[in-house]
Amino acid sequence: MLQFDVVTIFPPMFDAVAEAGVIGRAREKGLYQLVAWNPRDFAQNAHRTVDDRPYGGGPGMVMMPDPLGKALAAAKQRQKSAGVKKPRVIHLTPQGKLLNHALVMDLVGEQGIVLLAGRYEGIDERVVARDVDEEISIGDYVLSGGELAAMVLIDCIVRQLPGVLGDAESASQDSFYDGLLDCPHYTRPELYEGQVVPAVLMSGNHAEIGRWRLKQALGRTWKRRPDLMRQRKLTEEEHGLLEEYKRETAGTA
Ligand code: ADE
Repeated sequence: MLQFDVVTIFPPMFDAVAEAGVIGRAREKGLYQLVAWNPRDFAQNAHRTVDDRPYGGGPGMVMMPDPLGKALAAAKQRQKSAGVKKPRVIHLTPQGKLLNHALVMDLVGEQGIVLLAGRYEGIDERVVARDVDEEISIGDYVLSGGELAAMVLIDCIVRQLPGVLGDAESASQDSFYDGLLDCPHYTRPELYEGQVVPAVLMSGNHAEIGRWRLKQALGRTWKRRPDLMRQRKLTEEEHGLLEEYKRETAGTA
């Protein structure tokens, strides 16, 4: 079972991922375990202080190394007790490596992951130097803390674990699985406020439907994410489908 430990001053935030939807069900099924550690429980003074002013001056506060280090040590100890040989310790920060599908799939193979979610301006760099294996960012914007980023990581890792998604919702149908964005989806009714469902989807011809879906995925990726398109080698068939897409949508927005 995949073991997660999170170091955070807001443990209740993690109830949100642990309780809702497929990720909540996966926890009930015992497919992963999640334990939160609050650095305040390891603070030295009666106020349970975990932050202090930055050396060198400037605005904001910095998370002190000692409570964080002790919380991390407790997290790693629990992982060892749960049978994890070498937990991977990740600090969530905008300074980290950008998260993508390849990095998610790399993390899915781990036995145990310790997530360090900082608040304030950041954490004392000596904790990073001593205890952290890698830093990960979920995007080029700044959150008020690492908790939401840690939850994003937990969510996208857990949904890749065997047994979490049923066949019908298989992760192999997801965007990025094959380096492309997903195709558009439709359900009933056939006519919604003047808009119809593409005829091919009602044809019952599964080869044609598959071809249409791949064409839409290629077209959307080409239009919206040229960066992904450059990384993706196209087969002869895909190249033809993309050209078809370009012809069909020429002149439209
Ligand atoms: N903490 C604050 N902003 C973040 C981001 N974009 N990614 C990961 N951790 C963060």
